[in-house]
Amino acid sequence: MHHQQLKPFPENFLWGAASAAYQVEGAWDADGKGPSVWDPFTKEPGRTFKGSNGDVAVDHYHRMEEDVALMAEMGLKAYRFSVSWPRIFPTGRGQPNEAGLAFYQRLIDALRNHGIEPVLTLYHWDLPQALQDDYGGWESRQIIADFEHYCLTLFQRFGQQVKYWVSLNEQNYNLVNAYLLGTHPPAVQDPKRFYAANHIAFIANARVIAAFRQQVPDGLIGPSFAFIPCYPASCAPADLLAYENAEEFNNHWWLDSYCFGRYPQAALAWLQAQGQAPEILPGDLETLAAGRPDFVGVNYYQSLTYSDNGLDGVTLQRINTSGTKGTTPSSGVPGLFRTVTNPHLQTTNWDWAIDPNGLRLALRRIASRYALPVLITENGLGEFDSLTSDERVHDHYRIDYLRQHLEACQLAISDGVELLGYCAWSFTDILSWLNGYQKRYGFVYVNRDEQDPRDLKRIRKDSFFWYQQVIASNGADIVLALPRMT
Ligand code: BG6
Repeated sequence: MHHQQLKPFPENFLWGAASAAYQVEGAWDADGKGPSVWDPFTKEPGRTFKGSNGDVAVDHYHRMEEDVALMAEMGLKAYRFSVSWPRIFPTGRGQPNEAGLAFYQRLIDALRNHGIEPVLTLYHWDLPQALQDDYGGWESRQIIADFEHYCLTLFQRFGQQVKYWVSLNEQNYNLVNAYLLGTHPPAVQDPKRFYAANHIAFIANARVIAAFRQQVPDGLIGPSFAFIPCYPASCAPADLLAYENAEEFNNHWWLDSYCFGRYPQAALAWLQAQGQAPEILPGDLETLAAGRPDFVGVNYYQSLTYSDNGLDGVTLQRINTSGTKGTTPSSGVPGLFRTVTNPHLQTTNWDWAIDPNGLRLALRRIASRYALPVLITENGLGEFDSLTSDERVHDHYRIDYLRQHLEACQLAISDGVELLGYCAWSFTDILSWLNGYQKRYGFVYVNRDEQDPRDLKRIRKDSFFWYQQVIASNGADIVLALPRMT
């Protein structure tokens, strides 16, 4: 679609930025917090880049007030953060840890005092280790009740002050890594267990959404989905089928379950034939249908392009965690699809295709197929940043990336998408799960590296000042806004 004139960003648009507990908080065992599955996992040799972990992260737990003051200075309208389940329930269940709740209460109060809308994510991958040990975490239906109990505790405690809630963050990306690639805890590589754990996560997600309706009737809730739109490598019929397979397995599998309460037919039939389909118990589909979200949270970083892959074709491969460009191999599922390089797109140093058009596609597909509003819960550029001797970070490449993606948002709004807001990833630099601290995303540089936490000083990057102007103009100055040095 070409438009004569673009619609403006809505008046109450949530100009935001995001983070996740494990990636920023640190204080991994402070004030009664229990271990999450990431605490021991990151200590195992070879799991993460240079053995990096979130023990200290960027120490947001102790510097929260300073960070929120920077958000206020930037003019942020929304801040998306996640609650660490083991900070609230050190062993995953039982009585809540009041000190953990008090930290998030202080954060929410600080945000609201500055007029910043809190967007609370219930689960961003940091499962209590105790539940992994007791019953295998997401592989047991016991987790459904424990997750519900944890969420109810937060709904009851914060439901009056928090309107926007995210249920599961990137169930798709997390579980692919945890149960297919073996790169997130519990580091399993087994498709049958992958689809089984996923099914249980869908039920848990739907159950807490249904509970939310009772507890927070004025609030809005939805999962965040890592949406990677698919392109066919060519108009060859075999590539079109590969593209269709990829859409169905990599996108519809999750979004149809969240929004329609059912699995896509062809994918389910294929998995049944392979003996990999999840066990669907009586009542499961009704539970899923009763947990339709209010919006879809979109985490968007890239598109992927697909080609045909024979039964003896390429298998799933690990992602690039080094930042050495051009080292990502073709990855696929034999009999379904494999990835190929898209010659029309540039990539980041981690080989992620830079494709604002893919974001527009993702937003339109959700609007048209699921008829739901969208909240962009993550979008950003992970890159090497350098700090100059006068303590500046000239990240024009990040400004370019964000600007192009915000232009895509405005095009999508003009296409008819109901877009609630845009949370850039991330506010400060964060620990990038497998990539250490060298893959930086923030508007605010944090002075540390993998081995040395240094002074953890916060330094505003050029993108900080650019986004400040974008927000102040409600998006009218996306192109015009230039970084202002202070
Ligand atoms: C998403 C996650 O997968 O993408 C974030 O929700 C993550 O937690 C972000 O940091 C970027 O991924 P990465 O691997 O570059 O940190």
